[in-house]
Amino acid sequence: MLSAPMVQAQVDPTSSAVSEDSMFEALGTAGTSDAISGRVSIPNKNAGTLIKPDNKNWAGFQRGALPWIFVVALGGMVALLAAFYLIKGRIRVEHGFSGRTILRFSAIERFAHWTLSSTFIILALTGVNVVIGRSVILPLVGEAAFGTMAQWGKLAHNFLAWPFMVALVLIIIFWVAHNIPSKLDLVWIKQGGGLFKKGVHPPAKKFNAGQKVIFWSVVIGGVALSFTGYMMLFPLQAGTPSDWQLYQTIHGLVAAGLSAVIIAHIYIGSVGMEGAFDAMASGQVDENWAKEHHSLWVEEVKAREGQTVAGRTHPAE
Ligand code: HEM
Repeated sequence: MLSAPMVQAQVDPTSSAVSEDSMFEALGTAGTSDAISGRVSIPNKNAGTLIKPDNKNWAGFQRGALPWIFVVALGGMVALLAAFYLIKGRIRVEHGFSGRTILRFSAIERFAHWTLSSTFIILALTGVNVVIGRSVILPLVGEAAFGTMAQWGKLAHNFLAWPFMVALVLIIIFWVAHNIPSKLDLVWIKQGGGLFKKGVHPPAKKFNAGQKVIFWSVVIGGVALSFTGYMMLFPLQAGTPSDWQLYQTIHGLVAAGLSAVIIAHIYIGSVGMEGAFDAMASGQVDENWAKEHHSLWVEEVKAREGQTVAGRTHPAE
């Protein structure tokens, strides 16, 4: 309510209150960046700004462009991966499984990864529901079911953001040292990661250039989502309503981009590459898989273990 404080003795509420007509008139004539503001007696002074003409652009973006950005980013990535799978098939372990394994990720690393990934997937699904649920799911399931679903989804989204952030900090601590870009990454990129030519296996340490891109996307995108999400949860911290809207816009765009990247990651970490999933399931990978995709890492592990011949190894990493 835009009005002068009602209780001050000297104030005549009728003469100092803003008339609705004059507010609507002001809205009609305001430029796109002019806000219509007044004074409010409640603690949230931001409430003194009546809907800005600008907000129409923001609301139009949230309901118009953003859902399409999601559809194009996620649908486009799925189509791209399907085409890659149909043309190239599954990336095989070229020399076959050796039967010898190497420990690639410890239990605590896998715990951090699965906490991060399970919370991210639920956050992504419940977030997508906020953006396109009304137009896609509501007509399919009806208002009652959609209402319940959206309510639980919103709760899950707000609460799972916290374990997501904890897991994000853990993977940064565990893996940042292995993800510093190096000259070796240029060789890997030049050879297309060996994805397009048989027999080509560019050397890589623990993480190759492609994985570094995934890691930094998750870190930068995850921090951006966490920060903007926090601001949306606590609007009084966010500054003006325009700042809040900016955070929401950034949150939506980063979520669409990171979700597309993660779809590619899930593909390559499961059906896309033979032998990869084991790294995050048991933590043990086949030695031939490791030599083909992370040859320098295998050498490092063996040197640390004092082994020069092939054998079952259990490095401390
Ligand atoms: C069902 C879903 C998922 C599967 C099957 C999966 C699988 C894997 C595998 C197998 C690895 C190890 C690759 C290696 O040994 O080099 C890995 C690494 C990783 N995962 Fe996932 N993952 C999933 C979801 C996610 C999600 C949702 C995130 C983040 C939000 C994530 C973030 C990472 C990161 C940052 C790494 C290290 C960098 C890399 O290897 O690309 N993962 N994942």
